Amino acid sequence: MKFVIANDHGGIDLQPAVCEKLQELGHEVVHVGTYDKESCDYSDFAVKACEKVINNEADFAILICGTGLGMSISANKIKGIRAACVSEPFSAKMSRAHNNANVLCIGARVIGSELCKMIVEEFAKTPFEGGRHQRRVDKICKIEEEN
Ligand code: RB5
Repeated sequence: MKFVIANDHGGIDLQPAVCEKLQELGHEVVHVGTYDKESCDYSDFAVKACEKVINNEADFAILICGTGLGMSISANKIKGIRAACVSEPFSAKMSRAHNNANVLCIGARVIGSELCKMIVEEFAKTPFEGGRHQRRVDKICKIEEEN
C-alpha cells in the first residue's frame, strides 16, 4: 500500500520512525514535508497529504504534529477523510476495523518512537470489517452531505 506522511515542526522528530516502520512492513512511503524545524502551520500539511488520499494517489495518510490534534481537526474538515488521533495501538486497530479510518494522526509530544511504531503497525495491518460498521461509516458520509 502507499502511505503519504506529513508533519509540522512539532511532529518532525517522530516522522523517521513512522517512515521506517512502514518501509519495514513493505509499504511505499511519500513524505510531503515539512522538512525542517522552522515553525509552520499544521493545517497546510494536513491538506497536502489528505489531497493525495482523496485523489487516490495514496491509500492512507499519517499526520504528525505536537499532539496530533491540530492535524486531525484539519483533516476531518476534508470530505472523504476519516482521521483518527491515536496514542495507543488498540485504538489504532479499531480505527481501521470499525471506523475505516483513512488517516492516522499522532502526537510527537505525546508518545515515543517505539509506541509510535506499534501504533503504525496496527493501523497498517488491520482491514476494515465492513458489515454493520459499513452502515455506520455510510452515516458519517451522510453527515458530510447534509451539513
Ligand atoms: C505546534 O506548536 C503545535 O501547536 C502543533 O504541532 C500541534 O500540536 C497542534 O495541534
